[in-house]
This record gives sequence, C-alpha cells and structure tokens, in this order.
Amino acid sequence: MSMNSYTIVFLLFVLCSGAAAYDALDPNGNITIKWDVISWTPDGYVAVVTMNNFQMYRPITSPGWTLGWTWAKNEVIWSMYGAKATQQGNCSMFRFNLPLSCKRNPAVVDLLPDAPYNHQIANCCKGGVLSSMGKDPSASLSAFQITVGAAGTTNKTVKLPKNFTFIAPGGGYTCGPAIIIRPTRFITPDGRRVTQAMMTWRVVCTYSQFLASPRPTCCVSLSSFHNGSITPCPSCSCGCHSSSNCVTKGVKKPVLQCTEHMCPVNVHWHVKSNYNKYWSVKMTITNFNYQVNYTQWTLVVQHPNLNKATQVSSFLYKPLMPNLSTNDTALFYGRKSYNDVLMQAGPKGNVHSDLTLQKDRKTLALKKGWAFPRRVYFNGNPCVMPSPESYPYLPYSAGTR
Ligand SMILES: *[C@@H]1O[C@H](CO)[C@@H](O)[C@H](O)[C@H]1NC(C)=O
Ligand SMILES: *[C@@H]1O[C@H](CO)[C@@H](O)[C@H](O)[C@H]1NC(C)=O
Ligand SMILES: *[C@@H]1O[C@H](CO)[C@@H](O)[C@H](O)[C@H]1NC(C)=O
Ligand SMILES: *[C@@H]1O[C@H](CO)[C@@H](O)[C@H](O)[C@H]1NC(C)=O
Ligand SMILES: *[C@@H]1O[C@H](CO)[C@@H](O)[C@H](O)[C@H]1NC(C)=O
Ligand SMILES: *[C@@H]1O[C@H](CO)[C@@H](O)[C@H](O)[C@H]1NC(C)=O
Ligand SMILES: *[C@@H]1O[C@H](CO)[C@@H](O)[C@H](O)[C@H]1NC(C)=O
Ligand SMILES: *[C@@H]1O[C@H](CO)[C@@H](O)[C@H](O)[C@H]1NC(C)=O
Repeated sequence: MSMNSYTIVFLLFVLCSGAAAYDALDPNGNITIKWDVISWTPDGYVAVVTMNNFQMYRPITSPGWTLGWTWAKNEVIWSMYGAKATQQGNCSMFRFNLPLSCKRNPAVVDLLPDAPYNHQIANCCKGGVLSSMGKDPSASLSAFQITVGAAGTTNKTVKLPKNFTFIAPGGGYTCGPAIIIRPTRFITPDGRRVTQAMMTWRVVCTYSQFLASPRPTCCVSLSSFHNGSITPCPSCSCGCHSSSNCVTKGVKKPVLQCTEHMCPVNVHWHVKSNYNKYWSVKMTITNFNYQVNYTQWTLVVQHPNLNKATQVSSFLYKPLMPNLSTNDTALFYGRKSYNDVLMQAGPKGNVHSDLTLQKDRKTLALKKGWAFPRRVYFNGNPCVMPSPESYPYLPYSAGTR
C-alpha cells in the first residue's frame, strides 16, 4: 500500500492544479443545470430541467448521472417526464392522489432510451450518459420535466431547491447554490414564435480530480519500431498490486486485472515509422477493469506535431485549442456504434488508431523523446507518463522501418 514517487508527483500535480478544479486545457469546463419554470399550477409549478455537460473532454459514462437536491420546504414531486425519482419516501400525508416522491432530498435518474414515448420529452432518456462537449455538443445535454407541488406559485413565493448533488460514475463533482438568472427565451422550431420561462435558476457543478480519486487512473507506455524493448507504465502508477486487489484470471472479483501499474486504463504509444517528411504512431487504449464499459470515452494528447496530423484511422479527431496560439493538443474519440465504447477488460477491451503526422520543423525540435506525447488524458483524467530517461531512443530521421 506504499505510495511511490510517481503517485506523489501526481498528487502534487493534482493538489496544485486539480483541487481548485482548474484544468488548463479546459478552463471553463463545468456541468450547468438549469431549471426553467414553464407554468404555474394551483399548488406549485412545472419546470423543465436541462443539464449541459460543458466539459470539453470529460464524459458522463454509463450507468449515468444521478441528480439530487434538498427541498427548501415540504415540496413534493407530482410527476416527471424523461427521468424518475428513485424513491417515493413518506407520502402518508396524502390519502388519494399519491405524489411520485415526497422525499425531502429526492434523487433523480435518467430513463433508458427505450422508455415509453408517453414518458419522454425532448433530449431525455439517454440512460444518464452525456458525451463531452468537444466530442458531440448535441449529445452533451439531458433534460426532464418535473411537476412540483406544495410549493410557491409565483416567482415571489417559490423557494429554490438547495444542496444540489451531481453524482456520476467515478464521482468528483461539487455543485454551487441555485442562482436566479434571466428567464430563458425559447424559439419554436419554425423560428416564428418566441416564448419565455416564468422564472429560471441555474446551478453550476465542477469536477475535481482529487475529489474523484486521489490516485491516478491511467498510465502511458511507449515503444518504437526500431527497438524491441517496451517502456512500460511506471510500476505502481495507480497503486501497487497485492493478493487482494486484483485478479490474475477468471475470477470476476475484485474488478481490476493484475498489472505492475494497477491502472484501470493504459494508453500505449507505438512509433510505427519515421521518414524524412512523415512519421506515424499506433495508439492503443486498453481497459483493465472487468466491471466498466467506458461509453463515450475521450483521449486527449498533447504533442507539438499535432498541428500537422494528416491521417487518423478508426478514431475521430478534433484539434483542441485552449490557447488559440498553440495547436498542439488533440481530442480523439470513437466512432458511433463502432468503437465509441471501450469494453470491459477482456479480448474486446481495447481500441486503437493509426496516426500519421507531417513533420513540422517550426514546432518539432528533434531532441531525444521527440516522438512521444507530452501529456495524455483519458476521459479528462491525466495519465502517468514514464520518466523521460526511460523513453526508447529514437533516431532523428531515417528511412528505416
Ligand atoms: C498558452 O500559450 C502561451 C504562449 O505560447 C504559454 O505561455 C501558456 O502556457 C499557454 N497556456 C496553456 C494553458 O497552454
Ligand atoms: C460554465 O460553462 C459555460 C460554458 O463554457 C461558461 O459560459 C460558464 O461561464 C461556466 N461557468 C462557470 C461558473 O465556470
Ligand atoms: C410519515 O409521515 C407522517 C406524518 O408526516 C409521520 O407521522 C410518520 O411517522 C412518518 N412515517 C415514517 C415511517 O417516517
Ligand atoms: C445543505 O448544505 C449546507 C451547507 O453545506 C449545510 O449546512 C446543510 O446542513 C445542508 N442541508 C441539508 C438539509 O442537507
Ligand atoms: C417575476 O414576475 C414579474 C411579473 O410577471 C416580472 O416582472 C419579474 O421580472 C419576475 N421576476 C423574476 C425574478 O423572474
Ligand atoms: C459491457 O457491454 C457488454 C456488451 O454490451 C455487456 O455484455 C457487459 O455486461 C457490459 N459490462 C458492464 C460492466 O456493464
Ligand atoms: C490545427 O491542427 C489541425 C490538425 O493537425 C489542422 O487541421 C488545423 O488546420 C490546425 N489549425 C490551426 C489554426 O493551425
Ligand atoms: C532500446 O531502448 C532501450 C531503452 O531506452 C535502450 O536501453 C536500448 O539501448 C535501445 N536499443 C537499441 C538497439 O537502440
């Protein structure tokens, strides 16, 4: 259970950068939850709740989000479309019409895509899975409708729910207070009519790597065509293996496959070829967790030559330019229904892509280690890199293969 120096360096990195939830590559990343009151009722209101994942490369993976809050008074939920409250709570105050939930602190989960049509609303029913905004803005939001009773019935008497929680697989989110903002304006699809919410409030939730996991969850290994030796992930990158925390074969408990690095995810970067003008890389992501399918996974790689990526097989790809002045960071993700799910550990538990880059002498200094990435993130979490001294040695340019 001892922590080695990689973990400590990582912890320092996380403490300095992550604890404040600040990510230099995605400075504005957050999850914004908006409540639009669309009508008042005799004992409360109807609201459409919209959740936007404004994080560039951190998805909400299966089994999806759970949204919680605490009512300010004794509000109840009469009905919901597009999501459901997980518990009814104590509704003994009601004798005839029973509310859907009387919990003071309800927890709400998304419906599955096959939910009956009369339970759905627009943008609902994604099994709680949200893509990151950089990957697919249209799949990065989720919505449900809620009818609230025993509540205020005007914008002066309504009390905002408190203590919001956003729980996602892996955790790490904290939510701020609800804040009243300008009522949202809605434009009908034909663009000919504008309506306005009666009242709107907003909650912003941010992610902290340190809250999610004080240990890394991913590591990088390296190799090159001209040298048979592989530079492995630093041992104990994500923990050290003992007899109880991993499985050698077959047994499905606990959840991680035994490795020297004990990371649930490994990114391998193999330099395939190196010519005068071009060079190429094979990237392989391997899942060592027997109990997680990474839906909507993302991979972020920083390398100075990513400004001249000429060909990317099998993955989709977008330049991420947090800075506008530098174009050295790329967001990779899977193709829908082909490799956008990184399957649980096993024979299908990997995805890979070939990347061809055109050498750009302006940005690429051909020093030792030039062909290896500077930073790698899987699902927004930084991966532990081998130490530069251990990188495979690579000739500057060659026609060899
Ligand atoms: C943005 O670019 C400037 C100048 O190139 C550099 O000093 C700074 O560290 C960069 N910021 C990030 C977040 O990469
Ligand atoms: C949340 O993200 C949105 C979209 O990037 C941004 O406009 C907003 O300022 C962010 N809010 C906070 C509190 O960071
Ligand atoms: C349910 O609420 C009623 C009245 O509000 C209360 O008398 C009763 O003890 C509660 N039951 C439970 C199981 O908490
Ligand atoms: C809500 O959060 C505040 C501040 O964190 C805390 O003091 C309070 O006890 C919480 N209330 C409930 C009902 O959980
Ligand atoms: C409340 O409603 C009144 C009249 O309908 C409107 O003038 C006012 O701006 C609303 N206040 C808020 C906070 O939405
Ligand atoms: C992952 O997906 C496969 C295929 O859809 C399924 O058989 C398996 O049960 C899933 N595993 C988990 C942990 O959800
Ligand atoms: C950034 O890099 C990508 C791929 O390498 C390239 O297609 C794009 O034109 C570059 N953008 C800028 C502004 O340099
Ligand atoms: C291969 O790389 C290893 C590790 O950097 C190094 O020790 C070894 O000398 C290299 N072999 C060749 C043939 O370059």
